Amino acid sequence: MDILCRCISQAIFLSHSIRRSVEVYLLLLGDPNPPRVVKIKSDEVKRMSPDERSVAGLIRKALKFKAGEKWVETNSGILTSKKNLKRLLEELSNSYKIYYMREDGKDLRKLTDKMENPLFILGDHLGVKKEDEKLILQFAKDIVRVSNRSLMAEQCITIANYELDRVTKY
Ligand SMILES: C[S@@+](CC[C@H](N)C(=O)[O-])C[C@H]1O[C@@H](n2cnc3c(N)ncnc32)[C@H](O)[C@@H]1O
Repeated sequence: MDILCRCISQAIFLSHSIRRSVEVYLLLLGDPNPPRVVKIKSDEVKRMSPDERSVAGLIRKALKFKAGEKWVETNSGILTSKKNLKRLLEELSNSYKIYYMREDGKDLRKLTDKMENPLFILGDHLGVKKEDEKLILQFAKDIVRVSNRSLMAEQCITIANYELDRVTKY
């Protein structure tokens, strides 16, 4: 839970404000009741602060809801559903260009100026299982890296935001 919370914080929070139009999807494949997805929409989220306790409370609340295939809102800007990786990728590929983050990918900095609506897929502390990776690669436009070192997922998110900020006109 703490890793998930840090990933959400790094994805959506700025100093004293929130990044606009960011969506975070957590695909939970562990017990109980896998698969489970929690979606956070930065434009709509309310009463969430960057500290792990605040984020964890809202995620725990979402996980208590009985979920089906359709998204159900559990708090403003927080939704949950029961989709497996394939269904989620099918849905996301309608609105995003999907990039898979892996240590041996192409240098993200060399691609950011051409990226439109990117969505980055990251593994957890154990990485991504081979069979899941095979599926992700069917949907991914490219494999990208943010460093030559193996980093924590939340560090990758911070760097990806930094690289995108470098080429975005606000
Ligand atoms: C803690 S790492 C997983 C490490 C795990 N031992 C492995 O072998 O995959 C979590 C995720 O962060 C991403 N990641 C880590 N370092 C990266 C890098 N340098 N560039 C791009 N993504 C990276 C990958 O998606 C990875 O699955």
